[in-house]
Amino acid sequence: MKLLVTGGAGFIGSNFVLYMLKKYPDYQIVNVDTLTYAGNLENLKSIENDPNHVFVKADIRDAAKMDELIGQGIDVVVNFAAESHVDRSIMEPDIFVKTNVLGTQVLLDAAKKHGISKFVQVSTDEVYGTLGETGLFSEATPLAPNSPYSASKAGGDLLVRAYHETFGLPVNITRCSNNYGPYQFPEKLIPLIISKASEDEPLPIYGDGMNIRDWLYVEDHCSAIDLVIHKGRNGEVYNIGGNNERTNVHIIKTILKQLGKSESLMTYVKDRPGHDRRYGIDPTKTMTELGWKPRHSFETGIRETIKWYLDNKEWWTRIQSGEYQEYYSRQYGARLGDQA
Ligand SMILES: NC(=O)c1ccc[n+]([C@@H]2O[C@H](COP(=O)([O-])OP(=O)(O)OC[C@H]3O[C@@H](n4cnc5c(N)ncnc54)[C@H](O)[C@@H]3O)[C@@H](O)[C@H]2O)c1
Repeated sequence: MKLLVTGGAGFIGSNFVLYMLKKYPDYQIVNVDTLTYAGNLENLKSIENDPNHVFVKADIRDAAKMDELIGQGIDVVVNFAAESHVDRSIMEPDIFVKTNVLGTQVLLDAAKKHGISKFVQVSTDEVYGTLGETGLFSEATPLAPNSPYSASKAGGDLLVRAYHETFGLPVNITRCSNNYGPYQFPEKLIPLIISKASEDEPLPIYGDGMNIRDWLYVEDHCSAIDLVIHKGRNGEVYNIGGNNERTNVHIIKTILKQLGKSESLMTYVKDRPGHDRRYGIDPTKTMTELGWKPRHSFETGIRETIKWYLDNKEWWTRIQSGEYQEYYSRQYGARLGDQA
């Protein structure tokens, strides 16, 4: 099987590429990523010499390039490429629409032209908006995005749905809850708190810190996408989540306790505008229809994650210093040239 994975140098995409090559050593992966600030080829160091992994530095909005790449016998497209940080979407919505909506449409056109067998759109539970104290998001929950990020993801999802309804493109949309684990860019809650707490820096907490997210270890997200590729019914949406709802304050206190740091580092700051209060996923359909089950409880996942960041301090300090961005030209510059 030949897959085109977009955004495969980001957090979840790189975990997915590593997961798939380990599980299916004979699959071929073309990994397309434009390497924004969030893309980090150092995540893929361990497969640099794997002949079944080809990295291409390109933008998913580049229609000619996507046509060329998907036209080279791609069976499955898995679209992770996105602008993904809610705070950035509030400051600069424009790029979110360009990548998350227009980029998705460019990929869909190329996928349609070349008759691929599956297009998986990796989306988020944030498209459903926010929950009150009870209830869960099901696949039938109406879309009600509240941030420019989630609105742009919902826009991409609607195009994916439309290409199935109008052109019969074999698609699936996955909507997963918050992920955590190795290689997450340290602007996101868990790596941010681990990195700041380990340096005894103040930990910024939005509002009252009681916002609830449903946390899933990244490898469990990857195993669900693997099942969707192989068993997903065309045109269906699959929700992915591990029933691990935790408040931000709980997450932060758990990290502080494991690091042996003081709760006095916790610093409450003005809330994010439009901050969703609670997300909670009902994953019943994905579990019963595809046989998916998460392997990590929150307690084991967070322990492993904290250990990974402590063992790989160089990885995140190179991000903080900006050095990771030089890696592409050093590693690939002479060999491949800039294919963007
Ligand atoms: N992180 C989460 O908790 C979470 C949860 C559910 C769904 N998702 C979705 O999963 C996907 C991956 O999320 P992530 O957390 O790994 O994000 P990330 O920001 O770590 O990675 C995104 C990757 O996409 C690349 N990219 C951005 N614009 C591009 C473009 N125009 N062309 C090619 N590549 C481009 C970036 O360079 C980066 O490597 C996103 O679509 C996101 O919406 C994330």
